[in-house]
Amino acid sequence: MNSLRTVKGMHDILPKEMPKWHFLEETFRELVDRFGYQEIRTPAVEPLELFVRGIGEVTDIVEKEMYAFEDKGGARLALRPEGTASAIRSYIQHNIGGQQPISKFYYVGPMFRRERPAKGRYRQFYQAGAELIGVEEPTADAEIIDMAVQFVEALGIENVRVQINSLGDQETRPLFRDALVEYFAGDLDKLCPDCRRRLQTNPLRVLDCKVRDCVETAAGAPSVLDYLTGEAAGHFNELKRLLDENGTPYQVAPKMVRGLDYYTRTIFEIQGESDTLGSQATIVGGGRYDNLVKDLGGKQTPTIGFAFGIERLLLMLGPGASVAVRPTIYVAGIGDGGLDRAITLARTLRKAGNKIEVSYREGSLRSQLKRADRYGAIIAIIAGEDEAARGNVTWRNMKDGSQEEVSLSDLDERLEAHK
Ligand code: HAM
Repeated sequence: MNSLRTVKGMHDILPKEMPKWHFLEETFRELVDRFGYQEIRTPAVEPLELFVRGIGEVTDIVEKEMYAFEDKGGARLALRPEGTASAIRSYIQHNIGGQQPISKFYYVGPMFRRERPAKGRYRQFYQAGAELIGVEEPTADAEIIDMAVQFVEALGIENVRVQINSLGDQETRPLFRDALVEYFAGDLDKLCPDCRRRLQTNPLRVLDCKVRDCVETAAGAPSVLDYLTGEAAGHFNELKRLLDENGTPYQVAPKMVRGLDYYTRTIFEIQGESDTLGSQATIVGGGRYDNLVKDLGGKQTPTIGFAFGIERLLLMLGPGASVAVRPTIYVAGIGDGGLDRAITLARTLRKAGNKIEVSYREGSLRSQLKRADRYGAIIAIIAGEDEAARGNVTWRNMKDGSQEEVSLSDLDERLEAHK
């Protein structure tokens, strides 16, 4: 029988990698909490329709990358490829806007896209995202971008580029579409078959095609910024002013369109050092999606958010970045009744909040100290028969091997320093 392994493009996250994950997730939670965001958890499986309507039928995610399936009852479902559509579905379903006109959500969880696996690109990956629902003004855009930048800074990641653009509003889209169709019309034979089709159905998507000929052909395409209405341009200018005011460095990327159809007005990305990540340099993507609540059946509600790819961030973290792991204390029992004494003591000490390893079976002191070493214990508490008769234990410093006999009643105080 073939040995069973993870599905292609999906990966195990092993215990030894977890301190970095915890560091990242705790840094994120702590940061978004300061901005007043509350966690939302939605299912990994949603109606397929949610993403078709939310992200757009003619997008790579929906056309090519979605894990879509029929369950045994015939329901058409999908593994979520991103978190925004789910968060908005939940917002509408529970009428959250009725109670909280301005709602701020964050989420951390696995997403699924059947992409070609590469460094920093997986078929199951994790996102940490935030969505600010109910604010029209560019102050929301500036806050969201600032929060994303502060997260990157809090992780100690340097040399990032913040790129912003505006896709304009409802009036911009048809004008820009027409301009793109006209621009590409003369070069149809240079486009890939997908793009020739997209040009009819969703010309914006030609701009983020990765096929080399399409990228080259699109190099001289018109910029959406030339098609902004006065209002959209005003929004974008005010955002830039606010970013300047905050001291947030950014570049305007007039060709950036992003790969999801729900975006309107502001979009942004943060790119990391490309030599660490190869071609997968985008660590966060986000923007406004002012029509999504309405498109999914709710009221017209302005919205903006972002999502980080956690694996990509982790590839950029320095070796020093991790949550301090609590020190381990080992409890060894020796002599008559040693195992029972050790287990009872370990139980008491764990209840008091200490991190304790204890032997599961009788063993010599030597073998137990070896095990203590393997656990990386800094202290071994040895519950021997003679000391027990005096109400004491032996306190052994695992680093230098020094030992002393201490009273059981002093243990709490001594362990306080190692919690
Ligand atoms: P996205 O640009 O599709 O946007 O994904 C956001 C981030 O998720 C990317 O910048 C990248 O770091 C990570 N990511 C995407 N695909 C993969 C993959 N296959 N492997 C590893 N990491 C990946 C969204 O998902 C939007 N929902 C963001 C948003 C929230 N916009 C508004 N609110």
